[in-house]
Amino acid sequence: MARIIGSLATSHVPAIGRAIAKNLQSDPYWKPFFDGFPPVHRWLADKRPDVVVAFYNDHGLNFFLDKMPTFAVGAAPEYRNADEGWGIPQLAPIAGEQKLAWHIIEQLVGRDFDLTTCQEMVVDHALSLPMALLWPDQKWPVRIVPIAINTVQFPLPSARRCYALGEAVGEAVRSWPGDERVLIMGTGGLSHQLDGQRAGFINKAFDLQFMDSLERDPRWATQYSVPELVEKTGTQGVELLMWLAARAALGAGPVKRVQRNYHIPISNTASGLLVLEQA
Ligand code: DHB
Ligand code: FE
Repeated sequence: MARIIGSLATSHVPAIGRAIAKNLQSDPYWKPFFDGFPPVHRWLADKRPDVVVAFYNDHGLNFFLDKMPTFAVGAAPEYRNADEGWGIPQLAPIAGEQKLAWHIIEQLVGRDFDLTTCQEMVVDHALSLPMALLWPDQKWPVRIVPIAINTVQFPLPSARRCYALGEAVGEAVRSWPGDERVLIMGTGGLSHQLDGQRAGFINKAFDLQFMDSLERDPRWATQYSVPELVEKTGTQGVELLMWLAARAALGAGPVKRVQRNYHIPISNTASGLLVLEQA
């Protein structure tokens, strides 16, 4: 049976890509952020995942306002970074894990999740930057199954529904008869608001409480509605729904912290990193 090695959540601010491209990892502005990753690199070298199942939010690249799926699962042969503007100038495409993707799709649809399935899909900074943070040589040793959750156009799925999605994905992975080692990833957040009257809004107290909850009481954030989450974390802070789905995939049993980091500000965003494995 496929085995989940752990759940990893991180922020995906586009400026990280520029810092990687310009080799600014030791720059005083960037160092507290990049310093979070070497323990994760060592953990990955030890656990050697074959597949990453990644919850991320597309930012208007693959899905635009005319067609906006609530949940979309990629079953494509490969995923090309096609983000606009700044970032890492060139990235190798990431290979898709199509068989596991179809198994996840079948399991989820069987459990009444109404999905969009994508046999072609381009990806943006929300997927490519975490990959480049985890494997800085950008020679991807894993295949991926991307799962996009809409945080761009209202109505957004509730925290409760994203948690249920993550749980179902975890159970689908564990029921796959392959012997793959699978890393679950969630990318987005933490608190940030890029526009409007509260542009620049950050809520450190809430972010830290949310990170604590993922370790001790993973359903905690499901008490909040999406408008409440926007109020507490900013319009883009609601990307923390990806963290919740990735955590839920680990299951309800006790977890052990592998790494945790939190740094303000990276661009306009509170940047977090949390890696958990089953205790
Ligand atoms: C920023 C953060 C994001 O999550 C994003 O998708 C784009 C920009 C930022 O802080 O600049
Ligand atoms: Fe984002």
